[in-house]
Amino acid sequence: MKQAIPICEHMYWVGVHDFNCRHFHGNMFPIEDGATYNSYLIVDEQITVIDTVEEEFIDIMLERIQSVIGDRPVDNIIVQHGEPDHSGGFLKFMQVYPNAQPYASNAGVNIMMKQYFKDFDYKKVKTMDEICTGGYHLTFIEMPLIHWPDNMMTYVKEANILFSNDAFGQHIAGYDLFDDLHSLSKCIEKAKEYYANIVMPYGERVEKKLKEILALQLPIKMIAPSHGVIWRTYIQELLDAYMEFATFAGKDKVVIIYESIWRHTQKMAEALAEGIGTNGVSVKVYKESITSSTLMMKEILDAKAVLIGSGCYNNDMASNISGLLAKLKTCHIKGKKALGFGSYGWFGKTVFNINEKLSEAGFTLFDEETLSINYTPSENDLNRYIEIGEHIANAIKKQ
Ligand code: FEO
Repeated sequence: MKQAIPICEHMYWVGVHDFNCRHFHGNMFPIEDGATYNSYLIVDEQITVIDTVEEEFIDIMLERIQSVIGDRPVDNIIVQHGEPDHSGGFLKFMQVYPNAQPYASNAGVNIMMKQYFKDFDYKKVKTMDEICTGGYHLTFIEMPLIHWPDNMMTYVKEANILFSNDAFGQHIAGYDLFDDLHSLSKCIEKAKEYYANIVMPYGERVEKKLKEILALQLPIKMIAPSHGVIWRTYIQELLDAYMEFATFAGKDKVVIIYESIWRHTQKMAEALAEGIGTNGVSVKVYKESITSSTLMMKEILDAKAVLIGSGCYNNDMASNISGLLAKLKTCHIKGKKALGFGSYGWFGKTVFNINEKLSEAGFTLFDEETLSINYTPSENDLNRYIEIGEHIANAIKKQ
């Protein structure tokens, strides 16, 4: 029988591992190392469960709950978020615990009704609404559109725990449930990866919500998200990092992403990288078609600039570069610079089109010549691109 794992007095992790998960949320977010869907159990005069799990894993979650409470019924189920990785097991949960009272935000009730077509007499809660389970008070904090309209957190003041749902999540899947069982750098890097791929479009809201939570001056001993490790030691570092993520704070770093068949555009990318990297600015270079989108989004999050290159395909940029630019447009990126580049054969508008899409995505273009070359870049061309890389590095260092 699978067991619940205690996280503090009267509270347990009753989540599940999805060790085989390689594509989180469809193909949008490839991951290497599995995921967890975290649910939590609070044992008090009333028994409360916070979130369920993906449908296929619900029996494991129920086993973990029953390993603690046996035949006792669950009194409250907090639906912090209706996305199926947390609500997919809800119907089965309600079959097993038909008298459990579900709580959700207004938007959460709407989403649950539209997804599962059944009214469970939900109680709608809003920010600062509170329920008492006996010895514990659970206070709800809505966080709309971080990243669905219904997400909310639950704070337990007697234990100083914030159950944060998707916020502060990461994909670290194992039985080392706490942050300090891993290195600080690994935890922050994984939180950054998760943020960049799930939460990035909502930076303004994240910044506002973080300030709102900090203004409440809630003592927080533990942050228990719905994915990955529970934060109990690196909390301040996590909050500082999230504020940087939310404001798109950039390091002296440039990310170059390109697509190229005959290596002409690749040579341009590498010459630009040479000029940037040898002048005191970190540079990452990725060929789009062979690189994980998860990695590219993570690296873009804290770069000061992005250079996007493409050869010419059917009179336009490569379709994967076009897709990347469309994705960047949805991310509401602020304060970063960019420039397009590429080689072409007989249609010279590719780089113009890239630059136009970069502008539409909120990037400010570097004030450089149009980086477009007809067929193969010559030695002189490549030397000029190294110089342009140097100009870009100098501009980054002044930014
Ligand atoms: Fe973990 Fe928005 O789902």
